[in-house]
Amino acid sequence: MAASPPPPPPRPLLLLLPLLLVWGVVVAAAAATDTLRQGESLTGAATLVSSPSGVFEVGFFAPDPKLPSRLYLGIWYRSISPRTVVWVANRAAPATAPSPSLTLAANGELRVLDGSAADADAPLLWRSNASTQSAPRGGYKAVIQDTGSLEVRSDDGTLWDSFWHPSDTMLSGMRIAVRTPGRGPSEPMRFTSWTSETDPSPGRYALGLDPANSGQAYIWRDGNVTIWRSGQWTGQNFVGIPWRPLYLYGFKPANDPNLGAYYTYTASNTSLQRFVVMPNGTDICYMVKKSAQEWETVWMQPSNECEYYATCGANAKCTAMQDGKAKCTCLKGFQPKLVDQWNMGNWSQGCVRSPPLGCQVNQSGDGFLSIPNIKWPDFSYWPSTVQDENGCMNACLSNCSCGAYVYMTTIGCLLWGSDLIDMYQFQSGGYSLNLKLPASELRSHHAVWKIATIVSAVVLFVLLVCLFLWWKRGRNIKDVMHKSWRSMHTSTRSQQNSGMLDISQSIPFEDDTEDGKSHELKVYSFDRIKAATCNFSDSNKLGAGGFGPVYMGKLPGGEEVAVKRLCRKSGQGLEEFKNEVILIAKLQHRNLVRLLGCCIQGEEKILVYEYMPNKSLDAFLFNPEKQGLLDWRKRFDIIEGIARGLLYLHRDSRLRVVHRDLKASNILLDKDMNPKISDFGMARMFGGDQNQFNTNRVVGTFGYMSPEYAMEGIFSVKSDIYSFGVLMLEIITGKRALSFHGQQDSLNIAGFAWRQWNEDKGEELIDPLIRASCSLRQVLRCIHIALLCVQDHAQERPDIPAVILMLSSDSSSLPMPRPPTLMLHGRSGETSKSSEKDQSHSIGTVSMTQLHGR
Ligand SMILES: *[C@@H]1O[C@H](CO)[C@@H](O)[C@H](O)[C@H]1NC(C)=O
Ligand SMILES: *[C@@H]1O[C@H](CO)[C@@H](O)[C@H](O)[C@H]1NC(C)=O
Ligand SMILES: *[C@@H]1O[C@H](CO)[C@@H](O)[C@H](O)[C@H]1NC(C)=O
Ligand SMILES: *[C@@H]1O[C@H](CO)[C@@H](O)[C@H](O)[C@H]1NC(C)=O
Ligand SMILES: *[C@@H]1O[C@H](CO)[C@@H](O)[C@H](O)[C@H]1NC(C)=O
Ligand SMILES: *[C@@H]1O[C@H](CO)[C@@H](O)[C@H](O)[C@H]1NC(C)=O
Ligand SMILES: *[C@@H]1O[C@H](CO)[C@@H](O)[C@H](O)[C@H]1NC(C)=O
Repeated sequence: MAASPPPPPPRPLLLLLPLLLVWGVVVAAAAATDTLRQGESLTGAATLVSSPSGVFEVGFFAPDPKLPSRLYLGIWYRSISPRTVVWVANRAAPATAPSPSLTLAANGELRVLDGSAADADAPLLWRSNASTQSAPRGGYKAVIQDTGSLEVRSDDGTLWDSFWHPSDTMLSGMRIAVRTPGRGPSEPMRFTSWTSETDPSPGRYALGLDPANSGQAYIWRDGNVTIWRSGQWTGQNFVGIPWRPLYLYGFKPANDPNLGAYYTYTASNTSLQRFVVMPNGTDICYMVKKSAQEWETVWMQPSNECEYYATCGANAKCTAMQDGKAKCTCLKGFQPKLVDQWNMGNWSQGCVRSPPLGCQVNQSGDGFLSIPNIKWPDFSYWPSTVQDENGCMNACLSNCSCGAYVYMTTIGCLLWGSDLIDMYQFQSGGYSLNLKLPASELRSHHAVWKIATIVSAVVLFVLLVCLFLWWKRGRNIKDVMHKSWRSMHTSTRSQQNSGMLDISQSIPFEDDTEDGKSHELKVYSFDRIKAATCNFSDSNKLGAGGFGPVYMGKLPGGEEVAVKRLCRKSGQGLEEFKNEVILIAKLQHRNLVRLLGCCIQGEEKILVYEYMPNKSLDAFLFNPEKQGLLDWRKRFDIIEGIARGLLYLHRDSRLRVVHRDLKASNILLDKDMNPKISDFGMARMFGGDQNQFNTNRVVGTFGYMSPEYAMEGIFSVKSDIYSFGVLMLEIITGKRALSFHGQQDSLNIAGFAWRQWNEDKGEELIDPLIRASCSLRQVLRCIHIALLCVQDHAQERPDIPAVILMLSSDSSSLPMPRPPTLMLHGRSGETSKSSEKDQSHSIGTVSMTQLHGR
């Protein structure tokens, strides 16, 4: 270029010469660096690599393989393929020149040029738009961090940060505010989707915080149509997102005089989690699979029709059906708003009040009805002068256009206007809303309630009488059957023993048992099983587990067995199933129910177990008539037995088995009341990789599932420990874990036990029936151990050998259990003692007073 200068005009050329020298320093592709200095440029295939871990890389890339010449400057994960881009600079203007470049100007502005930095005519594609008049001493440099942020900074501080100007991805370490701060012009902070998977230009959807400062996050389409809403912040979580890991992993509100209210997000494992607004408007949380460098969806919203904004219109609540479809119902005291006779079933218009409120007619009294488990509606506001719950209620009563209120100590009083929009009725979780209703509606509510109570009492009584009569008859029939079985048995005993009539085949296998005896897995014919269970008659049914019903069966030899008829959709081939059964049959331990054999015929898959005459633990523990039979000694033995069974499953057996559905009804009791774990290995059989995420099929039982398993489908031996902790609490309290849900303060069993224990009221947890007979010291120690097992973070829970050690020793000191981080609807404002004991775990104390109503 310098060799053949175009003749006139000469002046620009002279200017160009020194420039050429400066820009001549191009970042070399080979030497990986994290810094771009003033005067350097990044071009071609060269990249900046974050240090020290090299998680992220900055450079030019072509997202669309069909258009390889369209280049964008982006940030992506260095070691994950296919390339996962988390930020794009020149989204709206792709480069078309063969080698575009990124430069850092002396005033601190980052620029993407469509051509070489040396070419003064190269079009400017993008700039960071944050600059200073005078360059600081030492100059500026752009640095890519291991968190994924690209920063322009000098010795004086940070001038510009890509985290404040996100594309479509939220990374750990970001702060989410209403507007961007910094030296550049302030603008709404939005996460804007790509147009398509291969086109990073700004798409139709954007996620951001409510500009009216209600503290809610929204997803909008085309800038102003609301698609989704997170719900209000309750001091602990967003009312519409009961996904605990989001808060466990550190989604928290914060406040800054310059920024106003904002949220911080810090994942426990920073680089491995990201939230993305997809081109179709869905917000997805991805995590890296443990086993491979590959992304897996762990959370997604909106994921059913009810999560879309205002699906049911005003004053209606939305219930999600199995298939994700919405079912809309008017709130009590409202009627569907019919536009004309044809729009039956069209809910876009919502519901209207009927009858009117008392305050609208004759000033007669109105009252409130509490609607549980709901995502509070949109458009709430904070009244300025309310001190307590009563004040909040009166504030709503005194304003005729107030339709509902909520009071929580953490956030104070929230009021709503006359139209209540976007309410999602959860199956469980969520919070209550106090809906204003005329006195007449509340009265009729009570009347209906009374009638319903009386009717159901009568029905219950009649049912009980029938049941009693039926039971008496059943007993007689059973006696007769028993006798006839006996006589048959004695007459054919010799034949039975020699020929094993009911067994068509047997599979011998190498033994792995603790007693060293050899066992055979028997294969039964379907007809035999059918005969043994009286054609799977209901009177033989013992119960229904998660994987199919269980029947009592009596083989012709007189042997009593339990027969589990697996439901058909196990998704496994015959050979796989057989192999799995053989593996499971090898698991033999005194605290595991023994698998005797199986039966496979066509669609039918049946497992035959030894029969436990004393049924399951829950039949004793939660039955007022039998509870007393289990004194503390017995209960402690049961706890120890279960622990030993688990130890065998987790550690000592050849397959390391995670049970995944440990609960009271899966603990069977033999004739000496020794506990035996049943249903182990079923998760294997129903197709779960043992050490992987499994979001599609979460087996397990509500109330026993650890947070990481219930929410993310991550399971491990530590999820079993959680279930074991819940089971211990049940054995000690004599109450079902599930009975704690939906109570006044709605803590789960773990939260409730923790609170009592923390307030030194552990004694009150103990089942009154055993309080007299037990050693208080030992029971309290057991509660302590249980609380260690039900801690939120899997890595903090002890493993089973540690649990057994703690159970068996009386003196060793135990670590302090951490409080449940998120006691959903818990009254965190009152747990002052918790913050004394553990500062790091008290959240929900952050004041949100900066947020104002909209
Ligand atoms: C840069 O900031 C100025 C205000 O400081 C604004 O007018 C202009 O539109 C911004 N340019 C870009 C490209 O964002
Ligand atoms: C959204 O904005 C567009 C233009 O900016 C306007 O035409 C449209 O009416 C707006 N829609 C709503 C629902 O406000
Ligand atoms: C974070 O992820 C890395 C890589 O998968 C893993 O080795 C490490 O144990 C994780 N740390 C935590 C705290 O989960
Ligand atoms: C949006 O895209 C994601 C990922 O591609 C997909 O899982 C989700 O089902 C899509 N949602 C809709 C409503 O199409
Ligand atoms: C529902 O009613 C609204 C207004 O009457 C109309 O615009 C809309 O198309 C209807 N939707 C359906 C699915 O019928
Ligand atoms: C107000 O009106 C309602 C029905 O409209 C009636 O039931 C009630 O008795 C009235 N109260 C008074 C104080 O008039
Ligand atoms: C009554 O409620 C309406 C809307 O709900 C609100 O705009 C108004 O300010 C309230 N009036 C008073 C006096 O608080």
